[in-house]
Amino acid sequence: MNVTLPAPRSIADYRELARARLHPELWQYLDDGRDSPCGRANRAAFDAAPLMPRPLTDVRGGHTRIELFGELLGHPMLLAPLAYQRLYHPDGEQASAMAANAQDGQMIISSLASQPFDTIARAAERAPWFQLYWQGSRDATRRLFDRALAAGVRAVVFTVDAPVKQSALALPAQVGAVNLDAPARPIALADGQSQVFDGWMVQAPTWDDLAWLRDLTPLPLLLKGVLHPDDAVQAVRRGCDGIVVSNHGGRVLPGAPASLSALPAIVSAVGPGVPVLLDSGIDSGIDVHRALAAGAHAVLIGRPCIWGLAGNGALGVAQVMRLLRDELEQSMALCGHASVAAIRPGSP
Ligand SMILES: Cc1cc2nc3c(=O)[nH]c(=O)nc-3n(C[C@H](O)[C@H](O)[C@H](O)COP(=O)(O)O)c2cc1C
Repeated sequence: MNVTLPAPRSIADYRELARARLHPELWQYLDDGRDSPCGRANRAAFDAAPLMPRPLTDVRGGHTRIELFGELLGHPMLLAPLAYQRLYHPDGEQASAMAANAQDGQMIISSLASQPFDTIARAAERAPWFQLYWQGSRDATRRLFDRALAAGVRAVVFTVDAPVKQSALALPAQVGAVNLDAPARPIALADGQSQVFDGWMVQAPTWDDLAWLRDLTPLPLLLKGVLHPDDAVQAVRRGCDGIVVSNHGGRVLPGAPASLSALPAIVSAVGPGVPVLLDSGIDSGIDVHRALAAGAHAVLIGRPCIWGLAGNGALGVAQVMRLLRDELEQSMALCGHASVAAIRPGSP
């Protein structure tokens, strides 16, 4: 849609620009979950998390840099895996990859990317992370995984919270999941069988599949979509190197808890040696600060990046990341935190 709005200056401006630009059906698909009970719980949990000002602290020379799985990043905000980015801008995932790189950060490429993995990885100029969705069987999953490995990814995020296909969006002909095999035929159900338990869930991964995946690769492996501390502990026992606490932006299970509320128990259950990342509902650098203060080592940013992408391609995504980073720096300075490590609970 051709809409003229003032040049965006804030993340909220980008949201409005994206809403104005995108077809209402696409906007609704993107926004889905933000107003679910779970999405509202995400927002409420961030709003209820206070940050304590500590004036007069000397924070000169402060910075937002982190090290994650041996890689130095300029800030603790990764671009979340988000499907079909060419829906929002013709440059799609390539634009996100360039923006992540320009802002000295990382991008996680979705299994449902709308451009070939190696095209995106080349635009990233650094080996990106790869998000894996189970493909119904080990063979099909392995084929997808091998394609990502061939593009040179440096970490794998295995998303397990959305095994049941729910999306109602009809994709335009020119946008699709170009890295996947052709879709398998749906399982034929006998009389009385449930489409969920006997259909979809037969093709969903289990803990044994996670162990199988672990044996496939020495790359850092993170499990995404964890909300229960016992699941986090089990993941680590089965060899995961990190956890992503997430409720998929409130899109999957309306009754799921806020990811921020679930975080502290998971951080304490897995112990200090395991990076715990968080997403779902982060709309500002202040929210990033809140997540770090609750124990996250880093965060993933989903929809705000897509607002940037829809609004202004790679430049829009980069600007959203820059705005988040500026807000985080200001919030850190006001609270006397000169580094991300200094934010963590229990740090001096
Ligand atoms: C439109 C849309 C598509 C998504 N596609 C994927 C995906 O392909 N893989 C995945 O692991 N998560 C996917 N997610 C979830 C995001 O990675 C992330 O968990 C979520 O968006 C975080 O919440 P936020 O958007 O409030 O930042 C998607 C989310 C949205 C909104």
